[in-house]
Amino acid sequence: MPTTHHPLGIDIGGSGIKGAPVDLAKGQFARDRLRLDTPKVSTPDAVAEIVAQIAEHFADATGDSPIGVTMPAVVTNGVARSAANIDPAWVGTDVRRLLSERLGRPVTVVNDADAAGVGEIHFGAARNAGGLVLVSTLGTGIGSCLIYDGVLVPNSELGHLEIDGRDAEQRASSSVRDDKNLSWQEWAERLQRYYSHVEDLLWPDLIVVGGGVSRKAEKFLPLLHLRAPIVAAQLQNSAGIIGAAWLASNANR
Ligand code: BGC
Repeated sequence: MPTTHHPLGIDIGGSGIKGAPVDLAKGQFARDRLRLDTPKVSTPDAVAEIVAQIAEHFADATGDSPIGVTMPAVVTNGVARSAANIDPAWVGTDVRRLLSERLGRPVTVVNDADAAGVGEIHFGAARNAGGLVLVSTLGTGIGSCLIYDGVLVPNSELGHLEIDGRDAEQRASSSVRDDKNLSWQEWAERLQRYYSHVEDLLWPDLIVVGGGVSRKAEKFLPLLHLRAPIVAAQLQNSAGIIGAAWLASNANR
């Protein structure tokens, strides 16, 4: 019986590198996800080695189908241009070339929040949404993804907006809530300041909030008052892998 090969999505994060083949007809993982630790010194070569192990693990399910890789960095033309919460050695690295040579398969590289947003627009909370959708991920940093009428406008990096003289993610990310032991109410006040500012700049039609903490959305989303509807992401931590696989399989090569 012929095997259906699925594109592979891989999410490179600060603590773990996760991957799964994605069934794009369903918007779901086709196999259980594999997570390996991010190497302590997370240089491009060390990370490429782990990415190769994940690709090898799923060789049967993915064949020579394309691979989509997300990372917490600005990515233009496959090159990482920033490194907010990862090893600075990534800046200037042609990640697409490094990984496609290492893996021998076509690789698409995308910012992690952009990948999550693409996952949400095709299969999650923003499915079929028109107009301007902002998908915002709250984690170690604050990621952002802008999609207009279904088309991704990459690398918006709204987590680094300067608000009250500070980098926004240093005031309002989910890790700041943990580190400072903020109550939901205290954190919501910081989020309110952040999202109102973003809203005044961009007037999105819909805001989707992702990242691990979106599992507890009922604790803080009802405390926010914005013009646009603000809803929890639906794919949560699978969104990036699913979105990356979608982008890899729809890339113009
Ligand atoms: C980075 C973004 C990333 C976000 C979430 C920010 O610090 O600048 O590129 O999307 O964190 O990981």
